[in-house]
Amino acid sequence: VTAEKAGFDHFMLKEIYEQPKAYRDTMMGRISDDGRSVELNEIGMTADEIRAIRKIHIVACGTAMHAGLVGKTVIESLARIPVETDVASEYRYRSPIITPDTLVIVVSQSGETADTLAALREAKRCGARVLAITNVVGSSVSREADDVIITQAGPEIAVASTKAYTSQLIAFYLLGLFFAETLGTKDSEFIAEVVEQMHKLPEQVESILEKATVLKQVANSLSKHNNLFFIGRGVDFAVAQEGSLKLKEISYIHSEAYAAGELKHGTLALIEEGIPVISLITQEDLYEKTLSNIKEVKARGAHVLGVVNEGFEEEVAKSVDELFAIPKTLPLLAPALSVVPLQLIAYYASLARGNDVDKPRNLAKSVTVE
Ligand code: AGP
Repeated sequence: VTAEKAGFDHFMLKEIYEQPKAYRDTMMGRISDDGRSVELNEIGMTADEIRAIRKIHIVACGTAMHAGLVGKTVIESLARIPVETDVASEYRYRSPIITPDTLVIVVSQSGETADTLAALREAKRCGARVLAITNVVGSSVSREADDVIITQAGPEIAVASTKAYTSQLIAFYLLGLFFAETLGTKDSEFIAEVVEQMHKLPEQVESILEKATVLKQVANSLSKHNNLFFIGRGVDFAVAQEGSLKLKEISYIHSEAYAAGELKHGTLALIEEGIPVISLITQEDLYEKTLSNIKEVKARGAHVLGVVNEGFEEEVAKSVDELFAIPKTLPLLAPALSVVPLQLIAYYASLARGNDVDKPRNLAKSVTVE
């Protein structure tokens, strides 16, 4: 078993460390040789069919749904197509408004999640075209969808999804760029710049992994708490939700992810002396706003860890108790970096609590029953 884990103590840790490779493999063969455009040959849609898409529904469960939350922002900002996201167990029963000009994107690591598969079938029944983002070739989802983007994360064994999630982000970036190119919503210089920055992500993840011991210390002190919060705005809020789920499922610490600006509408009442708050601050245009939310929780005694972009440390350091910097990238790409420290915090918190990291209680790797 140790051999399968390649020297790591747990599959989860091994899979966290496999992310640089997963990013490279998911990008491989999908970017033109000159690095200026995205080639998604697996997508059978013609340019006219892409132009005819009026709205997109992204449907998935759990972590895959959280990748979809980032995907929504990516597609809306790059391709200007309206996107809704939904959890599959809600979508399938709420009689969603699906028309022939709706593209439904289902996201599933395993490709076997019962609710996601049922949502896919419902979408097809209503006449939508279905595109699947999945990690498993030959899975039910991959067989039944019209178009399939395979994430090249390799087998994921730990119940807590890590490299599958980040590979799904890469798939959404590629898809968003592909649509933007086809629709002409972004010029070729912009697309080349995003591609260039994407190529830097694997090395940037490696530089985060080198700082794992810092995150272990953070996790050790968090593991003594029973409640904590993740806050952020925009894609930082999407990543906050993923960080919170990861922590809950393996450390069993209760946590909530909140849109930073929404705190004062109720949840702020829960902030008391010493409560840990992890705040993501990677979006330049929202940065001042999030800082003011950090001040709100600090004033009530919260202990704040800021996950911030390199270059902003000095400014943010004044407002937080602890700081973790991620390498500089484009705002849209930040989730592919900022989630990594949160994965490591969840891992080390679970370890500190003596939990079964790879097989958390009550959970299955893929939920094939309703
Ligand atoms: C992730 O850490 C979870 N274990 C879970 O939310 C998972 O992402 C969800 O069950 C969806 O699985 P799928 O991607 O295989 O469809």
